[in-house]
Amino acid sequence: MHVSNTTYRTLVIRLSLFTKALEDMIGFAVITILSVFSRKTKFQNMHKRFLGCEAMRKLRVAIVGAGLIGMRHADAVIRHPQATLVALADSNAQSLSRGLSALGDVRGYTDYKRMLEELELDVLHNCTPNFLHHAVSEAALSRGLHVYGEKPLAETVSEGEALVSLAKAKKVKNAVNFNYRGNICVQEMRNRLKTSSGRVFVIHGSYLQDWLSRETDYNWRLETKGPRSLADIGSHWLDLAQFIYGKRIVKVNASLFTSWQKRLNGDKPIDISSDDGASLSLRFEDGLLANAIISQVSGGYKNHIALSVDCENYSMRWQQQAADRLVIGRRDGGEETLYADSAWPSAQGKRSSLPAGHSQAWADALSNAISDFYEMILSDTSSPNVATFEDGLNIMKLAEACLASGRDGTWHSVE
Ligand SMILES: NC(=O)c1ccc[n+]([C@@H]2O[C@H](COP(=O)([O-])OP(=O)(O)OC[C@H]3O[C@@H](n4cnc5c(N)ncnc54)[C@H](O)[C@@H]3O)[C@@H](O)[C@H]2O)c1
Repeated sequence: MHVSNTTYRTLVIRLSLFTKALEDMIGFAVITILSVFSRKTKFQNMHKRFLGCEAMRKLRVAIVGAGLIGMRHADAVIRHPQATLVALADSNAQSLSRGLSALGDVRGYTDYKRMLEELELDVLHNCTPNFLHHAVSEAALSRGLHVYGEKPLAETVSEGEALVSLAKAKKVKNAVNFNYRGNICVQEMRNRLKTSSGRVFVIHGSYLQDWLSRETDYNWRLETKGPRSLADIGSHWLDLAQFIYGKRIVKVNASLFTSWQKRLNGDKPIDISSDDGASLSLRFEDGLLANAIISQVSGGYKNHIALSVDCENYSMRWQQQAADRLVIGRRDGGEETLYADSAWPSAQGKRSSLPAGHSQAWADALSNAISDFYEMILSDTSSPNVATFEDGLNIMKLAEACLASGRDGTWHSVE
C-alpha cells in the first residue's frame, strides 16, 4: 500500500495527539483518586488545576504598614495574577492616605486589628517597624492567615520562637522577606555551585549603606537594645550566604563599632550604644570560612550588598547595585560579566525574568520572592527560595551571637 508523505505525517500527528490525550486522561484519573482518598490540599489543588478552576482562585491579601517597604510589597502583590490587594492598614492616617492614593480599589484601616476582624483574608504582609513584628504576625497567624513578614522575624529570639510554634500549630505558610533570594543572579550562583564551580574555598563580602553616616541621622531603628545594623542589613547578608552555599553558619566571631555615641534626633541629643556596623568572621557547618563587613556609615554606598564565592574553577561575585550582572573571575582569562538572562535554567519559572540587557533589579527580586511564597500557598508545597519563619529565627540567633561575640571577643556557636 502506498502512503503519501502527507498522509504519513497526518497519521503521526493524530497518533501523538491520541497518546497525549491518553496520558492526560490517566493523569486526571490518578489526581482525582488521590484528591478524593488522600484529602491532601496539594492533590485537591492539582485536581482543580486540571479542571481549570485553579486559575480562578485569587488570594485575598492585606498589608500592614504603608511605609517604604509596605508600598513595594503592594506593587508586587498588584503585579501577581493570582492575588488581589484587598486592604492596607497604617496607624498613621497621613501615611495611610498617601499609600491608598497610589493604589486602586483598596480599603484603608488605621487599626489593623479591626481590619482582621472585618475582612476575610488569605495572606497578611507584615511591613511594620521591628517592634511590632511579633504582635502583628501573631494576630494574623491566630486567625489562620498565611504571613509574609518583614525582617527581622521579631525583636527577640523568644518572640521569634513563639511565632515559629504558632505558625506550625496553625499549619499556615510563613515567610520572612529575605528578598535578595529572588534575584536571578543569586539563583544562578546557587545553581553553579551544584553544576560547574567545583569546590568552594572561601566566601566574602559586605553590606554597606550610608544613611546613618551623619550625627543628625536618626530613625526608629536606632532605638533597639538588640543587634541593630546586624539585624537590619547583616541579616540579609547572612541569609544570602547561607542560601547560596546551601549550608548553615554554626560559629561566629564579630567586632562591632558605633561611629556616633551621641546622635541628634532633631535638637535632642540621644545616647547610642547599638552597632553602626561590624566585621564578621563566620564558619559554616562543614568548616568553610566566610567573612563580611557590615556598615551603615559608609559614604556613597547606598545599598551595596555584595558577595563573592571563590571556588576551584572560578570565583563568582554579585552586588545588588548592579543587580543584573554576575561576574565570573578565572585565573586564566580574567573577568567575564554575564547579564542576567531568562534563558538561564535557574531563571525558569521566575515571574520577572527578562531577556539579557533588560535590567532586572531590586523590585523584580521582591516580586519573585513574593511570587514563590504565593506558589507555596496555592500548591501547598514548600520552596527553598522562600525563607521561612524558622530560617528567620536562625538568622536572629546568628545576629544575637554576633552581638554577644562583639561584647566578649570570643567565638560563639549557633545551633
Ligand atoms: N527587606 C528589605 O529589603 C527591607 C527594606 C526596608 C525595610 N525593611 C523592613 O520593613 C519594616 C518597615 O520598614 P520601613 O522602612 O518600611 O519603615 P517605615 O517607617 O517607612 O514604615 C513603617 C510604617 O509602619 C507604620 N506603623 C507604625 N505603627 C503601626 C501600627 N501599629 N499599625 C500599622 N502601621 C503602623 C508607620 O506609620 C509607617 O508608615 C522594617 O521591619 C524593616 O526592617 C525591609
